[in-house]
Amino acid sequence: MATNIPQNQRVVSGMRPTGKLHLGHYHGVLKNWVEMQLNYECFFFVADWHALTTHYDDPSGTPTHVEDMVIDWLAAGIAPSSATIFLQSQVPEHAELHLLLSMITPLSWLERVPTYKDQQEKLREKDLATYGFLGYPLLQSADILLYKADMVPVGEDQVAHIELTREVARRFNHIYGREADFEKRAEEAIKKMSKKDSKLYRNLRKRYQEQGDDEALEVGQALLESQQNISVGDRERLFGYLEGMGKIILPEPEAKLTKASKMPGLDGQKMSKSYGNTIALRENPDVLDTKIRKMPTDPARARLTDAGDPEKCPVFDLHKVYSDDKTLMWVNEGCRAASFGCLDCKKPLIDAVQAEMEPIRERAKEFENDRSAVRAIIDEGSEAAREVARETLDDVVEAMRFV
Ligand code: TRP
Ligand code: SF4
Repeated sequence: MATNIPQNQRVVSGMRPTGKLHLGHYHGVLKNWVEMQLNYECFFFVADWHALTTHYDDPSGTPTHVEDMVIDWLAAGIAPSSATIFLQSQVPEHAELHLLLSMITPLSWLERVPTYKDQQEKLREKDLATYGFLGYPLLQSADILLYKADMVPVGEDQVAHIELTREVARRFNHIYGREADFEKRAEEAIKKMSKKDSKLYRNLRKRYQEQGDDEALEVGQALLESQQNISVGDRERLFGYLEGMGKIILPEPEAKLTKASKMPGLDGQKMSKSYGNTIALRENPDVLDTKIRKMPTDPARARLTDAGDPEKCPVFDLHKVYSDDKTLMWVNEGCRAASFGCLDCKKPLIDAVQAEMEPIRERAKEFENDRSAVRAIIDEGSEAAREVARETLDDVVEAMRFV
């Protein structure tokens, strides 16, 4: 198995600006992002236009919300030196690509995305029969394709959006992937590789196209991945040429499913703002203490001497996230034998959550005291993102023959 990590793989993911995040976001998403930024070229952005599709009547994209969320990202360990952090609305190319893609996207593709009907049902009080809301997943496709992402870390509920993105990319490449002088450009690109690699490429291409040898295709693709000296455009030309198609202008991304982390909330239900059962990522230590002390427990343990069942207790659910096997055993035995009270049981849990949060709070403090630094990170990230986005859009516009 290959243990070397492909540094040139690109990752894109976004979050709608909901303001301050909670431990569910941390365990479900942010920890994963923090890890990915070390191994891939990552773009993480605040999807403020997406928020507008469902909350057009409420300014949920306010600068405060955006900054609060980005402070949480930074506090969790997303580093501007390792990932590009930006704001969707500060990169107007997202809107431009969305518009262009909308021209080739059949209405039926958008209507059949499951979240379209689901969300309309769920948010009945809102009028979501809007043009913008129908286009929600296509805007997301633009977010992803604009950076030619290889991977998109998302939860289960977003997989259909990535699938749509792949279909739109395929359609785009199919319609516009024929450059006038494609063959000539591809041949020139081959010559930019080393003699040995050029020969190997031609060989593999022949094997795939004449004999349908799938292995040759795979080896050929790996060969292109490993080229250091050819431009992104040439690489895509050669990918297309290898398969006998036109140029791949918008590569198809893959969904990288984040393990469904069903972070339990204070009441045993999934942690969610709408249930009011959250612990904020930057919760004040005293408030955190009180919140856990007040958590409901197995009602059978009304008195200290009453035995309980941890499986009926939301505190135990949290223990499962935070405690080692030894502590879990201790809880299990002590609860069933009524050898200690619920507050004793909660003590190691409180300590573990506090310990996890301590460095996060510390890092957050810096940024809370210097919001202009947060702004600067967002501004710089957005500028860097724009450069990459512009390159893709130039390719797109050229393919659509606007130049
Ligand atoms: N739709 C995503 C969500 O609700 C947020 C999002 C917008 C996104 N654009 C994206 C996620 C691009 C990944 C990639 O969670
Ligand atoms: Fe829950 Fe612990 Fe009390 Fe048992 S002892 S009911 S697991 S808090």
